[in-house]
Amino acid sequence: MILPIIYEENPILHRPSQPVTAVTNDILILIDDMFETMDQSKGIGLAAPQVGKNIRVIIVDTQQKKSKPFALINPEIVHAEGEQLYEEGCLSCPGLTGVVKRAAKVTVLGLDENGNDIKIDAEKLLAVVLQHEIDHLDGILFLDRLNEEEKQKVEKQRNVAKM
Ligand code: NI
Repeated sequence: MILPIIYEENPILHRPSQPVTAVTNDILILIDDMFETMDQSKGIGLAAPQVGKNIRVIIVDTQQKKSKPFALINPEIVHAEGEQLYEEGCLSCPGLTGVVKRAAKVTVLGLDENGNDIKIDAEKLLAVVLQHEIDHLDGILFLDRLNEEEKQKVEKQRNVAKM
């Protein structure tokens, strides 16, 4: 089922989400629905708060060669190093993009859909997407991470959208 995506101004996107205590059938259905929703919107990542649920679930599909879509429950960044700049957008902020400074490499722990522990060592785009989606679980949008110059660019994008 395709779920409605909520937008920037919705308070759900600005508060921390709760950890999943058990990978129930409801969680698995939510993950399926999130994949359907992300595919339809041609996104490369989606976090549960973006479909109105303040729980710690993300899905990722970088659509790159050799990469497979995956879900991650209760993801946690346990190591981060280096820096990279990437021009990000977000399905909850349509029409807006800005360059965000992120860690170049991250190690993320979490659970898969079977409740098994998984560990992901990520760099480049995958590292960006993981950091962006995990931010959603903490109530942070990429807009909150822009420097002044990038913020001004986003304001211009908003004005164009209004014209
Ligand atoms: Ni986003």
